[in-house]
Amino acid sequence: MKEHHAKLTILSTLADGDFYSGETLGAALGMSRAAISKHIQGIQDWGVDIFRVQGKGYQLAQPIQLLDENYIRQRVSTPVHLHPIIDSTNQYLLDRVGSLTSGTVCLAEYQEKGRGRRGRQWISPFGTNLYFSMYWRLDAGMAAAMGLSLVVGVAVVDALKSLGVDGIKLKWPNDLYYQDKKLAGILVEVSGQAGEAAHLVIGMGMNLSMAQEEQQIDQPWTSLAQVIGKSQIDRNALAVALIQSWVRTLETYENEGMTNFVARWNAVDNFIDRPVKLLMGERVIAGIERGIDAHGAVLLETEQGIESYVGGEISLRSNE
Ligand code: ATP
Ligand code: BTN
Repeated sequence: MKEHHAKLTILSTLADGDFYSGETLGAALGMSRAAISKHIQGIQDWGVDIFRVQGKGYQLAQPIQLLDENYIRQRVSTPVHLHPIIDSTNQYLLDRVGSLTSGTVCLAEYQEKGRGRRGRQWISPFGTNLYFSMYWRLDAGMAAAMGLSLVVGVAVVDALKSLGVDGIKLKWPNDLYYQDKKLAGILVEVSGQAGEAAHLVIGMGMNLSMAQEEQQIDQPWTSLAQVIGKSQIDRNALAVALIQSWVRTLETYENEGMTNFVARWNAVDNFIDRPVKLLMGERVIAGIERGIDAHGAVLLETEQGIESYVGGEISLRSNE
């Protein structure tokens, strides 16, 4: 963290969107203009757009509302860790499952190694999106993990709805979609052995105001700013709403199981009654998607009838 102190201090100064000269920043940090310039370069490497205008100084392309650990802590019931720069919030919690209370949250402004499923990268520029993970101890053991990974998606749809954002859908097992574009991805990772309590880490990356043209992402994606048509999003209030909704939903799931969630999940299924294909390694099965069943498996209708599919190796894709 110490190595990033100067960059984070410069960023929190620039966050308001005003101009600051190299001289002013240097005086505040007790370093030369050349050193400031080097740190600015480092900040740009985190994916932040900064302009330099002769005679005026540095300015962010868009103001950033930084995450505020105290604000979030005061409003949620679980422990909160904010680490502005991290490899991956999922990895941070996975490395510590033995010493964490269930519900502990880790948030970051930037992930050096943000990941999706099967080692794929999650693009995680500084300050423009949300990246957070929650540790959840599931006493029912591993068998309940599939259902849990589905219900967190429902919790996100609920939280956004409570903030007035409608039309958010789910892609099995747990990606968030808006108008057929990916808004957020959820990654559930498990540590634990069969027959014991399962230690789950549930991580989500949600795009908030990441600029469309700058990112090399090989599938259609969107951001909350595009969904709601305005760029100013209260990231702290959003983080609180999402964390609260996850805790509430996970508790309900632990007490009541999947039964009450199946209809809710299907009601916001992006691909229900649409042609899809399921990719399973070399195997591809095409059919009409019919939602999920009580075990959290996805239902596919083919000439053979309706069959259920479940497992971490399956990817669902549109087949229209
Ligand atoms: P699956 O259906 O198997 O889960 P997926 O396409 O959702 O597949 P993941 O591994 O879940 O893939 O997520 C990583 C993928 O998401 C990347 O390969 C890339 O296509 C995409 N991606 C990466 N970063 C972002 C981002 N910030 N916003 C939207 N999509 C992203
Ligand atoms: C996906 O679409 O497959 C899941 C992407 C999950 C990204 C989030 S960002 C916070 C957490 N930390 C990670 O390294 N990944 C998840």
